[in-house]
This record gives sequence, C-alpha cells and structure tokens, in this order.
Amino acid sequence: MKKILVTGGAGYIGSHTVVQLLNSGKDIVILDNLSNSSLGVIKRIEDLTGKAVEFIEGDIRDRALVRATFEQHTFDSVIHFAGLKAVGESEAFPLRYFDNNVSGSIVLFEEMMRANVNQLIFSSSATVYGNPGSVCYTEETPLSPINVYGRTKLMVEDILRDLQKANPALRIALLRYFNPVGAHESGRIGENPFGKPNNLMPFMTQVAIGAQEKLMVYGNDYPTPDGTGLRDYIHVEDLAAGHLAALKALEQNASITVNLGTGKPYSVFDMIKAFEGASGVKIPYEVVTRRAGDLSEYYADPTLAKKVLGWEAQLGIDRMCADSWRWQKNNPKGYS
Ligand code: NAD
Ligand code: WQD
Repeated sequence: MKKILVTGGAGYIGSHTVVQLLNSGKDIVILDNLSNSSLGVIKRIEDLTGKAVEFIEGDIRDRALVRATFEQHTFDSVIHFAGLKAVGESEAFPLRYFDNNVSGSIVLFEEMMRANVNQLIFSSSATVYGNPGSVCYTEETPLSPINVYGRTKLMVEDILRDLQKANPALRIALLRYFNPVGAHESGRIGENPFGKPNNLMPFMTQVAIGAQEKLMVYGNDYPTPDGTGLRDYIHVEDLAAGHLAALKALEQNASITVNLGTGKPYSVFDMIKAFEGASGVKIPYEVVTRRAGDLSEYYADPTLAKKVLGWEAQLGIDRMCADSWRWQKNNPKGYS
C-alpha cells in the first residue's frame, strides 16, 4: 500500500490526525523538525494505535532530506501541517515565517512533484480572510490577511492554485481551520505549547493546574453580547476527521477549498463558563485591554465542507473543554 507523508505530524493537529489515519488502516511517515513538538508524542501515538510509527526528524527546508524521504518511500499523498503559527512572533520575525512556511513549502512541493506525488492536503487558516467586514466567513469571502502569519498561509494557497493550473494532474485540498481546541479522549495526546501559551484554551488549562496565575481576558468592550471576542472553536478530533474526509473527497474532486469550523461562535466568557463546568475548577481572570490585532467576532460558514467532504463537526464546547482538561490534568508538564 502507498503511504502518506505527514509533515508536522508530531504537532498538535498533526498527531491527532495521524492517530485517525493509522486507525483507519493508512500507512504514514511523519517528517517533523520538533521545533514546536516533542519526540514523546510518537510513543503516545504508537501506544494509542498499537502501530509502529515511521518518524523522520528533519526540516522541510532540507532539500536533500526531503528528496531522500520521497526516494525511500512510495507516497500517494502528502498532508502538510509543518509550519510556524504564532501571530505575534510572525510580526516580530517576518523572515523566519516566510522562510519556514513559504520557502519550506516550496521545497516540499518541488520534491513532491519530482517524485510524481500528486495529492496534497494543506493546513490553511481562517486568518487568510483578515478583517473582511462580514463576520460569517464563506469560502467566497475576500482574502486579505492582516498579519504576517496569515500572509504566509495565503501565499502558500496562491502557490498551490498556480501549481495546479500548470499541473492539472494535481489533486489539492486547502483546509481553512478556525480555532482548534480539545484533545484526544484518552488524555494521552493534546496541545503542548512551549513557553507561555498564546491561545485561550491552553492558557485556561494552565491556569486550572496552577501553572499560570490567572487568565487575562483581552477586552470586554467589543460589540458582542457580553463584550468579549467571539470565535468558532472546533474540536481537534473533528478537525482531524476533516482530513480523512478530504482524502476521500479528493478521489472525486481534484480541487477543494473549505472552511473547517462548527459555524457556532462562543465568547471568552462562554468558554470560561464551559471550562469551569467541565473541570469543576474556578478560573480566576482579569479583564485587560484588547490584544493588538484581535478581531471582535468571526466564525465559519461550514456549509461547503458538508457538501464537498460530507463532513461536519460533531463535538460541542463541553466536550472540547472536558478533553482539553483531561489532557492537561494528566500531563501537567506536557510530554516531558
Ligand atoms: P504545531 O506547532 O503543534 O504543529 C506544527 C508542527 O510542524 C510542529 O510539530 C513543528 O515542530 C513542525 N514544524 C514546523 N516547522 C517545520 C519545518 N520547517 N520542518 C519540519 N517540521 C516543522 O501546530 P498545529 O496547531 O498542529 O498546526 C498545524 C498546522 O495547522 C500549521 O501549519 C498551522 O499553521 C495550521 N493552523 C493551526 C491553527 C491553530 O490554531 N492551531 C489554526 C489554523 C491553521
Ligand atoms: C481567542 C479569543 C482573544 C487568549 C489564533 C490565530 C489564528 C488561528 C487560531 C492559526 C480572542 C481571547 C485569548 C487569552 C483572551 N491560528 N483571549 N485571553 O486569536 O482567535 O486565533 O489562533 O492559524 O490565526 O490568530 O485565538 O485562542 O488566541 O483567542 O481573552 O489569554 O480569546 O482575545 O477573543 P485567535 P486565541
């Protein structure tokens, strides 16, 4: 059987997707430089699936390594998660982001083409939409990212659209994720940010175990019902399932661009309440000024994903919070 190359497969979304791929009988190889993940996740994936994982520690920008990887294995698809994702860091170190996310993707695509591998799933993001005015994003919403990270995602999308025009044999799915949260139900794998978390859910779980003193709520003066920002949080297990659905859908449809979200926005206060309910732990918080670059509200119109992938999110915020909490409680120091 041909294999799937999973770049960034040791990361948060990649590891959950790899578990589902292995459980559905796919053969995979992970290529990851561990710049934002730990080797410990590989053993956990093996424990959860009962399967040995082929793991290559390396960088997608290392052309010799990427070429050797394509020569040593027969792949029919690539799922490309590898990338840097911290918005603030991308603004401070733009070249690091363009190099890693854009140049790295170009090396990967060149070697993929050289090896005649024609099928790709790319991790894009709702950030490609920027601040379009409307708050419910369809795939037709204009693309105009407002930060460096988002521009790297749009650049790679553009590269792939042009590449497919020049090479009609390619089959490409661009999946635009909204706000991934949650963890595997076992509590064995989950989100493991290095240093202080940037995102709401991992910050909240770290407050709950006492690793952070309190949650800073970035603004309660937005034009939303409770004044805090509204987002479309999606369980990472639903997101992972979206990749398996995309692999299947690519058999019928060579060019797919879809939002992966639930379509249901929740506020920061909604998330605190749901988390306290799921964990039984009170979350101390302080309302502070808005975080630069944050939008008031946005969420996915998930209609197209349902139509094209036959996929829709199944898990609600209580389950997202319960699973995030189980992971954090059982692994207060992540994988170490
Ligand atoms: P993550 O940081 O947990 O996983 C990314 C993985 O890629 C890490 O294991 C990292 O070590 C690896 N990596 C980074 N640069 C690499 C390189 N040059 N060569 C090889 N490996 C490299 O992040 P995640 O949350 O799992 O995100 C996966 C993908 O989804 C990323 O491309 C991210 O931009 C995208 N995305 C994430 C979110 C989110 O909020 N988590 C939302 C939208 C899109
Ligand atoms: C959610 C809400 C904050 C932290 C980011 C990226 C985006 C995508 C997903 C990759 C907002 C509020 C947060 C905190 C808070 N990633 N908040 N206190 O900013 O919607 O999206 O991750 O593609 O590109 O920008 O996610 O979890 O940081 O914030 O009040 O300590 O929680 O203001 O309203 P965001 P987030």
